[in-house]
Amino acid sequence: MKRRLTSLREKRGYNNFGSYYEAIVENSSLMDEFLDRMTINVSEFYRNRKRFEVLEHKVIPYLLGKKKRLKIWSAACSTGEEPYTLAMILSRYISLDQVDILATDLDRNALDRAKEGLYHERSLKEVTPQVKHNHFTKEGSYYRVGKDIRDSVTFKEHNLLADNYPGGFDLIVCRNVMIYFTEQAKQVIYQNFSQAMNEESIFFVGSTEQIFSPQKYGFEVYDTFFYKKV
Ligand SMILES: C[S@@+](CC[C@H](N)C(=O)[O-])C[C@H]1O[C@@H](n2cnc3c(N)ncnc32)[C@H](O)[C@@H]1O
Repeated sequence: MKRRLTSLREKRGYNNFGSYYEAIVENSSLMDEFLDRMTINVSEFYRNRKRFEVLEHKVIPYLLGKKKRLKIWSAACSTGEEPYTLAMILSRYISLDQVDILATDLDRNALDRAKEGLYHERSLKEVTPQVKHNHFTKEGSYYRVGKDIRDSVTFKEHNLLADNYPGGFDLIVCRNVMIYFTEQAKQVIYQNFSQAMNEESIFFVGSTEQIFSPQKYGFEVYDTFFYKKV
């Protein structure tokens, strides 16, 4: 992160972060450029496919065994591939009227793209032909996510480091963003997520983001990269 921001700062002609900071708070186009460089939006459908198979065949049946209406949060959802994957998986089990999927990110541009629901083929490399057939329509060299899937997700701006956390979730998915945060920030975020979860609900993290002492946050390991709130 430091390397990315130093090269941008130097490109704009500032020789230290103090003067660069003063410039970006005054100038909104410099701020937009800074945010764009800082937020790394790479995502794809069914990212780390094996984990989504565990979600589909173990976690969702477990959650639906307890209640029939699920409240789900995809935090740091980037351009929408993750919450749409969740909706596609859930649609195999229940009507999408029975799920509330909140998807949030800090980056407004990413959220605008998410709402469009239009993706290049490279975002679909883990998608099976069946899912592609059921949930996408080809538009030129792009693929549009079906309206029923798009309509089941509510996108909102939310900063994990600064905003209040919504609550009452049965499943929180937060993947491939914690790696950018300090240890201290991670601890606060895990605590906030834990408070936002119902008892016996599940927290799904990225494939390099194992939690070091899950019990500190009231979690126990449910499966690899899945934690249960106890
Ligand atoms: C690499 S993407 C991960 C997307 C998706 N979760 C996945 O695993 O494919 C990281 C996302 O985190 C978002 N992000 C970075 N800092 C954030 C913060 N403080 N609050 C909310 N989102 C943040 C970025 O805007 C970016 O869209």
